Amino acid sequence: MYADRVLSGMRPTGSLHLGHYHGVLKNWISLQHEYECLFFAADWHALTTHYDSPGDIEANVWQMVIDWLAAGVDPSKATLFIQSRVIEHAELHLLMSMMTPLGWLERVPTYKDQQEKLTEKDLSTYGFLGYPLLMSADILIYRANRVPVGEDQVPHLEFAREIARRFNHMYGKEPGYEEKALAAVKKLGGKKAKLYQELRTRFQQAGDEAALESAKALLGETQNLSLGDKERLYGYLEGGGKMILTEPQALLTEASKMPGLDGQKMSKSYGNTIALREEPDSVTKKIRTMPTDPARVRRTDPGTPEKCPVWQFHQVYSNDEVKAWVRAGCTSAGIGCIECKQPVIEGVLKELAPIQERARALTEDPDTVKNIIADGCDKARELARETMRDVRESMGLSFG
Ligand code: TRP
Ligand code: SF4
Repeated sequence: MYADRVLSGMRPTGSLHLGHYHGVLKNWISLQHEYECLFFAADWHALTTHYDSPGDIEANVWQMVIDWLAAGVDPSKATLFIQSRVIEHAELHLLMSMMTPLGWLERVPTYKDQQEKLTEKDLSTYGFLGYPLLMSADILIYRANRVPVGEDQVPHLEFAREIARRFNHMYGKEPGYEEKALAAVKKLGGKKAKLYQELRTRFQQAGDEAALESAKALLGETQNLSLGDKERLYGYLEGGGKMILTEPQALLTEASKMPGLDGQKMSKSYGNTIALREEPDSVTKKIRTMPTDPARVRRTDPGTPEKCPVWQFHQVYSNDEVKAWVRAGCTSAGIGCIECKQPVIEGVLKELAPIQERARALTEDPDTVKNIIADGCDKARELARETMRDVRESMGLSFG
């Protein structure tokens, strides 16, 4: 049992590009070695904005999952699944909708922003308004405490914490709570149970914060308790009710250094991407025709690397020696732009070659991909069901 659980989701946008790789996937790949990780395709989220054109969601999910795997997300380390295949997310979303104040949803900054930005779509829908709540359900249902996301998602994490807090406050006093907590203490075993009680008393009677921390650490290390019992004991320490839902923290992903071909953020809608499965010829052509510092009209005009998107690519792909060569050659017009781009082309092709090889193998073997996802969905469902039992019970819905 790990102390921390990481969860993140990605909307199924089809095949992924270098922006996703450097901005998200490399981070997931390093997290999977450090934490228990769950990663999912957020297909319902795609419908919150594309409800009128659902046609390609399924194909997009499979393309995206192949790219995750090809990039190195490892199904023996992380649990990979599809949101809509774990329908418990929907139940939690529904139950939480009962106690979510409308004003909280209306105040989420992305709500008005996106509505104003995506004017070609009618986003005055129930689903779109509720999207942060659905995202909260995605997270809270796994009691995930760490959620790797970009800056734009931070308000949603804050929203999820507020919902968790409100939920615990409202429903945390389960019937027979005291007895259940005491039964859970017993399950700790003699020595640990005694220590837990001592630490709890020291905190509750004397406000000893260090004792509280020790008791939390003790629970963190404990392996033989169900998550429900564990949460109960965390809650019991501080005298409150049971912590049914865990407040998640954002694990802020560093902004990617990888720009698009035109220097803006890499994004399909800007048409400035290099796909992970882009053909080598196409990669070469795209980089050869990338814009450079506009001051270099002729080969003999010196340039400024900082004004050139190719320079940003060198930050990702080149070592100090190559970067020094670029700076000297660009500012003195000693090298031409085509020459300057050559090491970038080679760097990108070298990075993509093994990814493309794995993607090819996976594409030829769809059963393997389907099985990985089926296993992941089973694992995720099991965790989700455990939380839902507690949620239903706390809301008075435990019908045998
Ligand atoms: N909202 C996220 C996005 O648009 C995707 C997402 C859905 C997500 N549910 C999540 C991310 C839960 C993290 C955790 O990028
Ligand atoms: Fe950009 Fe390189 Fe040309 Fe300078 S030499 S403008 S850094 S491509």
